[in-house]
Amino acid sequence: MTTETVIEAVGVRKNYRGGREGAGLNGFDLEVTAGTVTGLLGPNGAGKTTAVRILSTLLELDSGTATVAGYDVRRQGAEVRRRIGLVGQYAAIDEVLTGRQNLVMFGRLNHLRNAKGRADELLERFSLTEAAGQAVSKYSGGMRRRLDLAASLIVAPRVLFVDEPTTGLDPAGRLEVRSAVRQLVDGGTTVLLTTQYLEEADQLANRISMLKAGKVVAEGTPDELKTQLGSDRLEIVLADPADVPRVVQLAGSLADGEIRVVDVRVSVPVKDRTKALVVMANSLHEARIEPEDITLRRPTLDEVFLHLTGAEVAA
Ligand SMILES: Nc1ncnc2c1ncn2[C@@H]1O[C@H](COP(=O)(O)OP(=O)(O)O)[C@@H](O)[C@H]1O
Ligand SMILES: [Mg+2]
Repeated sequence: MTTETVIEAVGVRKNYRGGREGAGLNGFDLEVTAGTVTGLLGPNGAGKTTAVRILSTLLELDSGTATVAGYDVRRQGAEVRRRIGLVGQYAAIDEVLTGRQNLVMFGRLNHLRNAKGRADELLERFSLTEAAGQAVSKYSGGMRRRLDLAASLIVAPRVLFVDEPTTGLDPAGRLEVRSAVRQLVDGGTTVLLTTQYLEEADQLANRISMLKAGKVVAEGTPDELKTQLGSDRLEIVLADPADVPRVVQLAGSLADGEIRVVDVRVSVPVKDRTKALVVMANSLHEARIEPEDITLRRPTLDEVFLHLTGAEVAA
């Protein structure tokens, strides 16, 4: 397992001229290791697109440093551009042309000797072979994004920036695009993916950086973030609402925070999960209370996200 750093940002600042105070990036740090997917997760306006545009040399930073594949984005932009691909929210796909024609055109623009062969290979990889001869205007949202991904892979970049690939797609389209991203990582590409969808970051990313107001507020694997910032909960569902006060009392000594009661569900934040489960089960048994259900629940990324950013989660 290599641990080569392919994207590094240190203290990057960017303020848009004439933009809102604090909008942009305010000391943005990021480290992405080769062969991984890093999710840049944040609510609308957090600065995700700004970060991607700076790292892909489309936008100049005000201060700080950023390198991609070892090259400085400010001083060695051409070297950076030679090694990256970018899937934006609006890729330069021609609606009138067919999927295959678009890919062949991209290949020729990039001086590929076998543009047709490469196009067919990518159409196959993204399950677009059947639709290859149709005008792109006839494509569904999911097919269109898959074509965007294929187009950005024409020259097999080392690093691919994917900016909110599934925003605006229906659930089926999201699944299609996610599986396309997974395939591309299997092919060895390092991916920086931005998203407002927690489950997307949870499913696709090896590491997640949570962005708030232009700054990374938490970083780690999805599991690390969950344990770092949320607590495990013991949930007891009772058959009889009359038992609720007694159970809340029994749970008091185990609770590491506020006990929540909704209906017949008592939810207790706990530190030592297994011990809490054993102690609670014993207490219930001794009190002759038979619960409908008793379970341990890991915190979700939603809880972490909400806790850190105070933002509403995109549905
Ligand atoms: N060209 C611009 N001029 C002024 N403000 C901008 C511009 N682009 C983005 N912003 C502001 O910068 C902040 C971050 O935007 P952006 O990077 O697009 O966030 P995200 O991609 O996370 O939704 C937002 O407050 C946005 O309004
Ligand atoms: Mg954006």
